Amino acid sequence: MSEKIKKSAVTGHPVAHSRSPLVHGYWLKKHGLSGSYDRIDVAPESAEAFFGDFAASGLVGANVTVPHKEVAASACDWLDEAAQTMGAANTLWLDANGRLCGSNTDGLGFLGNLDQLAPEWDVSRESAVVLGAGGAARAIVWALLSRNFTHVHIVNRTLEKARTIAGEFGSKTIAHDWNSLGKLLGKADVLVNTTSLGMTGKPVLEIDLTPLPKSALVTDIVYVPLKTDLLKRAAERGNPTVDGLGMLLHQAVPGFERWFGVRPEVDDALRTIVLEDL
Ligand code: ATR
Repeated sequence: MSEKIKKSAVTGHPVAHSRSPLVHGYWLKKHGLSGSYDRIDVAPESAEAFFGDFAASGLVGANVTVPHKEVAASACDWLDEAAQTMGAANTLWLDANGRLCGSNTDGLGFLGNLDQLAPEWDVSRESAVVLGAGGAARAIVWALLSRNFTHVHIVNRTLEKARTIAGEFGSKTIAHDWNSLGKLLGKADVLVNTTSLGMTGKPVLEIDLTPLPKSALVTDIVYVPLKTDLLKRAAERGNPTVDGLGMLLHQAVPGFERWFGVRPEVDDALRTIVLEDL
């Protein structure tokens, strides 16, 4: 008797642009597995019902993208620490008892990317500067605190949003507006852009990098273009830099492992396939 094919998918609204099928499709083929990974567009009005009765979808698990990460987390019977802290889940699976479990792997994706491309990056963990205060910033603050940064500074145009995140994470996380940036850069070990500035079609991120120590690692979650203006300017002055594509690839690893039982690698061939699709 042939084994039932394990089905998985990315769920969100919209999902047509998602590159996750490319990533999981590559790993399924590489490991000779007979699973599937599709796109399922879940309309906002159907999200509660879809995630509330996830078993009815016939999927063994799924990724969740905007705008459903919070609804998905609420529907879970169990959440890991990251998803609990962020109140948002991007990876779901059904356990042996049919309970819906959720994780948030965005922060792990961020760390996996830096560990792979800049293994020396966390030598000094005094001060991190995170630009932006959206969902991605929340995941990255979680990631930096998990690596024991002493101070994580969130700099955002709308100070209130930075304050909300800082309030969720406690006293090591401090909210600022853009006026404080120069002073903060002077002490930064890591600078992360989580705003949409620098993305193709958006304004460039105009910040003066002069105060930033040359040893500070600069990374951007924007990956279209792969080398943002920020990364180019940082590299020109001698800072180590890491582009954001790997965060997208690494955040997919835990889900694939849960659903298909193989821990996949983010290798050069995968990077090339996704780059060609950008
Ligand atoms: P996500 O949840 O996907 O991370 P988001 O909520 O759209 O993204 O947030 C984008 C981030 O980019 C926000 O921090 C936003 O700042 P505000 O909170 O003040 O809106 C930031 N951002 C976008 N355009 C900006 C601009 N022109 N100048 C400064 N910050 C900007």
